[in-house]
Order: sequence, then C-alpha cells, then structure tokens
Amino acid sequence: MKKSLLFVFSFLSLFGCKKEEERANNTEEKINITSDSNVLITYFSVTNNTKKIATYAKEHLSCETFEIVPEQAYTSQDINYNNSDCRANKEQQDDTSRPAIKNKLDDQSKFDTIILGYPIWWGQAPKIMYTFIESYNFEGKTILPFCTSGSSPIGSSATNLSKSAPKANWLEGKRFASSTSKEEIGKWLDDNIEVKKEMKLLIDEKEISVNWENNESVKALKQITPLEIKMNKYGGFEQVGPIGKTIASNDVNYTSNPGDIVLYSSNQIVIFYGSNTWQYTKLGHLDLEQNEIKSLLDKPNVTLKIE
Ligand SMILES: Cc1cc2nc3c(=O)[nH]c(=O)nc-3n(C[C@H](O)[C@H](O)[C@H](O)COP(=O)(O)O)c2cc1C
Repeated sequence: MKKSLLFVFSFLSLFGCKKEEERANNTEEKINITSDSNVLITYFSVTNNTKKIATYAKEHLSCETFEIVPEQAYTSQDINYNNSDCRANKEQQDDTSRPAIKNKLDDQSKFDTIILGYPIWWGQAPKIMYTFIESYNFEGKTILPFCTSGSSPIGSSATNLSKSAPKANWLEGKRFASSTSKEEIGKWLDDNIEVKKEMKLLIDEKEISVNWENNESVKALKQITPLEIKMNKYGGFEQVGPIGKTIASNDVNYTSNPGDIVLYSSNQIVIFYGSNTWQYTKLGHLDLEQNEIKSLLDKPNVTLKIE
C-alpha cells in the first residue's frame, strides 16, 4: 500500500473511532440461538481476506455460508484504489450505486442470526453490501457485522449499512486484520453467540416438547445426557426412576401439576400425571394436554430418554 494511502486510511481510522459511538440499535447481550442451523454467515470478499475470516467462523459454528458474488467480477484494475477512476472508488463515491449480485439466497427466513462480513472500502462497506441488505427482508433478524481492512476500524460502516435494514437488530460489529487467527474468531463468536441446544425428551420413544426450567439442576442434567431411565408408576399420580447419579438440587415444598418433571432426592426423576405435594426441584413441564399426559404415563412402567 502506498504511503499516501496509508495516511488516508489512518485518517479514516481516527474518523471511524469517533463515529463508533453512534452505533446502531445494538444490545450488549449475547445472541441466544437454539441451533447452529439458525445462523448464516454471509460475506463479500475480493482478495479473500474477509473470506478467510468467514471460513474460520463457519468452522467454529458449523453453519451455512453465503458468498455475495458480484454479477460483474472485480478485476485488480477495478480495485486499484490508487487510481481515483477505478470502479471501486467510483462506486464508493456514488450514493446511488448498487452493484448487481449474481447469486440469490434461497430461504433467508430460516435464519435468525446473520453474521455479515465485508472489506472496508474508503472507511465504509462496499456498495454491493447495500445491494445485498436491500434485497431481502431482515425484519426481526439479528445481524452481527464484521469487516477486514488494512488499518481502519469498522467505524461508521455498519451503522450506515444498518440504515438499509432498520428493523433488524444490529449488534456491535468488529474489525479484523487479515492475519487474525482462527482462535480469535472463535473467541469473538463465543463472546457474542450462545448456542442453547435444548434437551430432547422421549417417553417410550415418543418425542415430547418440554419447557425446561432455567436452573442449575437442568444444567447439571444436560451435562450427563444422554440418559435412559426405566420409570415405574408410583402412588397413582407419577412415574419415577433413578438417574444413576446425584445432581445439583434446590428442593422446595411444591405441589405438582400434571406434566411437571421434577428432581426428587437429587437422584431421581419424577414425571406427574396427577399431583402431589413434596420437596422437589422443578426441572420442566411437558407441553401436552392433560388427557395425553395421563394416557402416556398412567401405566406400570415407561422408558424415559433425555438426549
Ligand atoms: C477500494 C478499496 C478501498 C479500501 N479502503 C480502505 C480503507 O479505507 N481503510 C483500510 O484500512 N483499508 C482499506 N482497503 C483495504 C481493504 O479493506 C483490505 O485489504 C480488506 O481486507 C480486503 O478484503 P477482501 O480481501 O475480503 O476483499 C481498501 C481496499 C480497496 C480495494
């Protein structure tokens, strides 16, 4: 990179720092996703720096990627920023420029979270990123931007881009050097995204959706899955079976409802089709009608699987 340009990019860096305060409507919280398959990594890259970071992210999350491919590929002359007339420079100076994209994202509705990568061109996102953002409906989606650059920070690039999809939840973006390691990308993702994989519960091989509690016992149970527990009918209101281990409990005097899943004596799971009052730690509740709960559990024994 020529000295003169380094100076300009350094200037843009300073400018970018100031602008960083005016971020989009980001939150400080982590994104909670239930599966990697809800995440899409989408990026534009001409000299493969951004592509490398996107690949590291994909390896960390094992999610889908979508490369934004321009209808007309950028030649080295097109991105020769020392030439003020080069295609990239002209596009960046033209607010109405929206370079066409060759490929289409099939079904963006299945993704909740979009990790969006681009190179910094004159302090901003390339105009093709605006084409992309304006081509789909990102309402309600969470967008985590990142960029690569010679030296400039992400600055106002993501904030400006966010104006083209104001109904998305834009998180604070981050700039990476092309030399950033795979480990650093993994850490950045872990700091921003929490994959909350739900436990699957099956009674006699029938999968039943569960509203799990958010407590230490459920976390402890997750740690020891998969579990297969032989349960027996007890007292005309429950199925009970041993976990085979003692896990964290926080027992309280509790009157159960049909469908409740509780931890009893720190080492047994009880699922109710009736009601009882005892010292339990609630684990969750079966998402089923009362008559379905009864017909599933009111039998001598059942096999419970938690995966
Ligand atoms: C037209 C153009 C403008 C650029 N402007 C900047 C800039 O303002 N600040 C900067 O640090 N780097 C700038 N760069 C360098 C790129 O941001 C950097 O090389 C980036 O990692 C390229 O990503 P890619 O390999 O994914 O295309 C510019 C590059 C081009 C082609």
